[in-house]
Amino acid sequence: MSVQDSGSVEDLAARLRPGFTLGVAAAAFQIEGSLTADGRGPSGWDAFAEKPGAIVDGGSPTVACDHYNRADEDIALMQELGVDSYRLSLSWPRIQPDGRGAVNQRGLDFYDRLLDKLLAAGISPMVTLYHWDTPLALEHAGGWMNRETARRLADYAAVAARRFGDRVDHWVTVNEPVSVTLQGYALGAHAPGRQLLFDSLPAAHHQLLGHGLAVKALRAEGVRGKIGLSNMHSPVRPASNRLSDRLMAEALDLMLNRIYADAVLLGKYPKPSLPLWPWFRSLGPVLDGDLETISQPLDFYGLNYYYPIKVASGRGPAEIPTGQAEEMANIPFHLAAYQEYQTTGFGWPEAPEQLATVLQEMKQRYGDALPPVFITEGGASFPEPAHVDGPVQDTNRIAYLAEHLGHAVSATGPGGAAEGVDLRGYYVWTLLDNFEWAAGYSQRFGLVHVDFETLERTPKESFYWLRALARARSRDQ
Ligand code: NOJ
Repeated sequence: MSVQDSGSVEDLAARLRPGFTLGVAAAAFQIEGSLTADGRGPSGWDAFAEKPGAIVDGGSPTVACDHYNRADEDIALMQELGVDSYRLSLSWPRIQPDGRGAVNQRGLDFYDRLLDKLLAAGISPMVTLYHWDTPLALEHAGGWMNRETARRLADYAAVAARRFGDRVDHWVTVNEPVSVTLQGYALGAHAPGRQLLFDSLPAAHHQLLGHGLAVKALRAEGVRGKIGLSNMHSPVRPASNRLSDRLMAEALDLMLNRIYADAVLLGKYPKPSLPLWPWFRSLGPVLDGDLETISQPLDFYGLNYYYPIKVASGRGPAEIPTGQAEEMANIPFHLAAYQEYQTTGFGWPEAPEQLATVLQEMKQRYGDALPPVFITEGGASFPEPAHVDGPVQDTNRIAYLAEHLGHAVSATGPGGAAEGVDLRGYYVWTLLDNFEWAAGYSQRFGLVHVDFETLERTPKESFYWLRALARARSRDQ
């Protein structure tokens, strides 16, 4: 993709409908650092990151972007950028150090100040309650394999609601539960590092239950903001028309997309074809009432899109985007390479038109059950230097963002394949280069370069591109 392909900023701005939200997204654990400051308790990720070999180059999250001490500077950057909204996450162990019971006022105070400053800067907060930093005490009790964790999430949601319910415009209960199930409990590449393969599926059900109970808790506390969740969606295609490949594509589509979206939007789990039943039998136990709780009507649906997946049957040298080749070797399918796409720094195929496909499939499958949609994450990492003395010329990222936004807007606009999907906004992942989970600091997704030795922030060319888009749009409205 080139910047030319994606057209001018003015053209793109003119295609955004009035009120379309442009935002940036981030997560507490990836940017804050200060893991022991002001009474924060440990999270499962603190412990996981200490394991030798768990994080690329031994990257440590203890400082990250030092956002905990530099929030003012980062808000000023967002203000300069001109985005309408910032999607942040609250650190559960800062607020409830043990994951239950006692609340840490100093942790709440940090977010209290942050929210006030955002509002004063004219930036609307979208707040994620759970972006993967499970309190360690809960992880020790089984984490998401334990149904009780769902109730703990709801209690924590109520605490957050009581303190912030008057100021948060959008609440996201859980972020990408699929990633936690797969990377954390099935493959072991993320915290808590368990390798349960298909036996990990209770973690999916319990996160979804946690989502539903958190929705109830937020509503019971009378928050004024809108409520949703963020699911990752990856369109899955078979590598060939062979039955075995098609079956594996079905399996992956269920595992990645439909378990989560069907449960939330349709109130039922998808039924796999007969040969796949043994894989999905551990999804549960699903008790009476669980699916009603999980599928309460939402005010919006958050969709994270990064890449499509092509799958082939047979054990393989797995070319899987997040790199768990060895663990995947135990499973009779592998991810096949896309020849037709360029790839990002992570090796992810750049397939902007497949975002349109995702939206179209959402419309077809969920119809009127789909509430207004925000793309709550999209972005790309590219190899970039550790130290810079001016803006990184990241035309690849500009093209990536322009193309993805362009396809999303066309698809949902008049005559588009997903017309009728009420697309409300797009959040770029992410403002700052940050701690990219198991990849540590090796994958830079930011609109702003961070020098992890000096912590200096330097906006990249993509920052100025998004600023120009935000400005051009407001001129049009
Ligand atoms: C999705 C996750 O929500 C976020 O934490 C992560 O950094 C991005 N994907 C990029 O991998």
